[in-house]
Amino acid sequence: MDALLIERAELTVISRSPQETEEIGEALGSCLRGDEVISLEGELGTGKTTLVKGLARGLGVGVPIASPTFVLASEYAGTSLRLQHLDLYRVEDAREFVASGLEDALWGEAIVAVEWPEKVRHLLPAARLWITLRHSGGDQRRLHFEASGSRYVDLLRRLGDRLAQPEPGPALEVH
Ligand SMILES: Nc1ncnc2c1ncn2[C@@H]1O[C@H](COP(=O)(O)OP(=O)(O)OP(=O)(O)O)[C@@H](O)[C@H]1O
Ligand SMILES: [Mg+2]
Repeated sequence: MDALLIERAELTVISRSPQETEEIGEALGSCLRGDEVISLEGELGTGKTTLVKGLARGLGVGVPIASPTFVLASEYAGTSLRLQHLDLYRVEDAREFVASGLEDALWGEAIVAVEWPEKVRHLLPAARLWITLRHSGGDQRRLHFEASGSRYVDLLRRLGDRLAQPEPGPALEVH
């Protein structure tokens, strides 16, 4: 059969604190292999940048991730992979994004984390990880991960496995 098969997978994670969101980001960062594009969609204050902070830690980025309010893009070096953090809050539309010259970043060698990706939705690769963050009362956030394409489906499977691993809590410490 000559049908086009697009693999998909979904995962929903509830975060109860900024620390937990960072930990989820860190787990995701440690599952990345290089040049992935990760979209982070969600209203103001849902934790997009917090997740990117953890993701950077998972990649071994040693400097703090800034919330790039006036900067559209910041690049960081991890242990072996690079991270490009794009914040498109101030970008009007896809045309302005293309004019800014940032489109090339989507197809480069660095991992790309994009806040406000819906503004450039049709420019983003079809194979991708799309994370939707929602307020869920107080400090709770609902993080919905949607993978398209076999590579991202595999990535989400690795992330699910990692998040399912029990944390070594104090009770497991050996003195
Ligand atoms: N479970 C949670 N996960 C993430 N952030 C949380 C959580 N609970 C509370 N917060 C707070 O919500 C805020 C999230 O800020 P952050 O900059 O990560 O959001 P953002 O989605 O990037 O916002 P913006 O659209 O302004 O870029 C922080 O002040 C953080 O302390
Ligand atoms: Mg942000």
